Amino acid sequence: MKIALSGIKPSGLPHIGNYLGMIRPALRLADSYQCLYFIADYHALTTLHNGSELRSHSLSVAATWLALGLDPTRNLLYRQSDVPEVMELAWILSCFTGKGLLDRAHAFKDAQAQQREISAGVYTYPILMAADILAFGADVVPVGRDQKQHLEMCRDIAQRFNHAYGDLLIVPEALIQEEVETIPGLDGRKMSKSYDNTVPMFLPAAQLRKLVMRIQTDSVPVEEPKLPESAAVFQLYRHFAGASDAEALAEKLRAGGTGWAVAKQALFDAMEASLGEARTRYREIMGDADKLAGVLRDGAERARALASARMARVRRAIGMGSSA
Ligand code: TRP
Repeated sequence: MKIALSGIKPSGLPHIGNYLGMIRPALRLADSYQCLYFIADYHALTTLHNGSELRSHSLSVAATWLALGLDPTRNLLYRQSDVPEVMELAWILSCFTGKGLLDRAHAFKDAQAQQREISAGVYTYPILMAADILAFGADVVPVGRDQKQHLEMCRDIAQRFNHAYGDLLIVPEALIQEEVETIPGLDGRKMSKSYDNTVPMFLPAAQLRKLVMRIQTDSVPVEEPKLPESAAVFQLYRHFAGASDAEALAEKLRAGGTGWAVAKQALFDAMEASLGEARTRYREIMGDADKLAGVLRDGAERARALASARMARVRRAIGMGSSA
């Protein structure tokens, strides 16, 4: 069976951008692939420098996967930091990564443009991400569109390595859900922890409703026709409701006489319908810390077994240890 692998950075609580852009499409692969889904906690360390928050967000991300139906016995769920082979491979790959490649990374260029201080960790982020993928021989990587460039860099790095040692590393394909547009956040920009515009997935219903009501809209008065497609609230609604419900709401908005508050209520209801039960499971899972730790321990063990087999071949090829 081919391997699908993807990760979420626990830099905050998992939000509906993570869900729509990545988790939901990734879960649909569970029948046709061996799925490896992990918590990219070392990646979160580029921005989050608070140990207890990082640890707790990591557990939230794990519980989110489980609450949404990932079966950890058929698939693998693990924390990146529990698989040290990944860090070892990251160094090796850094010796096959041109500085020019890293200079072109959007994430790094954005940080530079915003004149944020850039650590070596931010700069070399794509190398660690390549190691995440290549250590396990992943065939496909389901990701949101924003990760496309990182995947291209991973392929490039793998090819360079293979050029020197033969085809040891599997060059992965990005699996980008073309129908999933960038998910907008509260202010209409891409939903992202770094813009502070996220809607966390499993807020209590009352808080969720409050947040949904805060989604920015234009100031077209209730009676006038509106443009649904350009509004974050409608774009989000479309992802949670079926196509025919979405079209019905769009028509109402276009006709005039329906205010944005109606659209927001519809979005809240649709979110409750698709995520309400998962929220209950999420709370149960978060309430049983020992069990969750056990799932992650088991995932780490199996992930290490996979990665260390490949790493043994890599180490031998590059001239470490004995050749036998
Ligand atoms: N960079 C990804 C993001 O920000 C998270 C990530 C880290 C990842 N390593 C990965 C995704 C490996 C896929 C595969 O969303």
